[in-house]
Amino acid sequence: MRIPLIAGNWKLYKTIAESVALVNELKPLVENSAGVQIVVAPVFTALSRVFDATEGSQIKLAAQDCYWEEEGAFTGEVAPKLLKDAGCSYVIIGHSERRQYFGETDVTVNKKTKAAVAAGLDAIVCVGESLAERESEQTFSVIEKQIQGGLAGLSAEAFSHVVIAYEPVWAIGTGKTASDAQAQEVHAFIRQLVVRLFGQAVADSVRILYGGSVKPENVKGLMSQPDIDGALVGGASLKAESFAAICSFNS
Ligand code: 13P
Repeated sequence: MRIPLIAGNWKLYKTIAESVALVNELKPLVENSAGVQIVVAPVFTALSRVFDATEGSQIKLAAQDCYWEEEGAFTGEVAPKLLKDAGCSYVIIGHSERRQYFGETDVTVNKKTKAAVAAGLDAIVCVGESLAERESEQTFSVIEKQIQGGLAGLSAEAFSHVVIAYEPVWAIGTGKTASDAQAQEVHAFIRQLVVRLFGQAVADSVRILYGGSVKPENVKGLMSQPDIDGALVGGASLKAESFAAICSFNS
């Protein structure tokens, strides 16, 4: 009942021309990836042009961040409704790189998530523990705090527009993927948290993505876990061939 979602987070890579070229290369490769939703998240400046390039395909567009106000004197920020205007269906919120380098907190994640959903976007809300937190056995308490804080005050209806991405910080860009069992353990924990917060039916339908060194070689094992509903892919999404291979994990 949960349609798998494979999202490519392009981070701070690629010019407009390179982004458009990547989508054009990707399109024929994922044409037959039935039963999977595919999302790409280019840099802000490429969104609109990439959206044009996705036309006639099933590829959806995401931004990598947003602000929580609709408009005003907020130099440098981008409002959710402007992302919608540029063609976005999704926005990534609270990525660990934003938490680490740009002062993102559970409070700002919460404001952004509410604003994004109110503007008609689906929010991909990221959570994940650092290596030190895992080694000191704080993984579950960290995730619980991030989920409770990031999703505080959302109605069940608003939450139906949220996708959760579990990205252990120690697995991002390191080549070290969480094992299938390690990822499944946290995904199951997250789903139980959602049961507590929003009820069983909502928890059964929310998609929980895994992110952190996902590659064509490990995606099948991860996706075969009962609570892993997709992937948020960094490095391997920057090449059409590897991203397409990940998108066709079920073929
Ligand atoms: P990598 O796939 O490069 O580890 O990045 C994961 C990530 O941060 C996706 O948001």
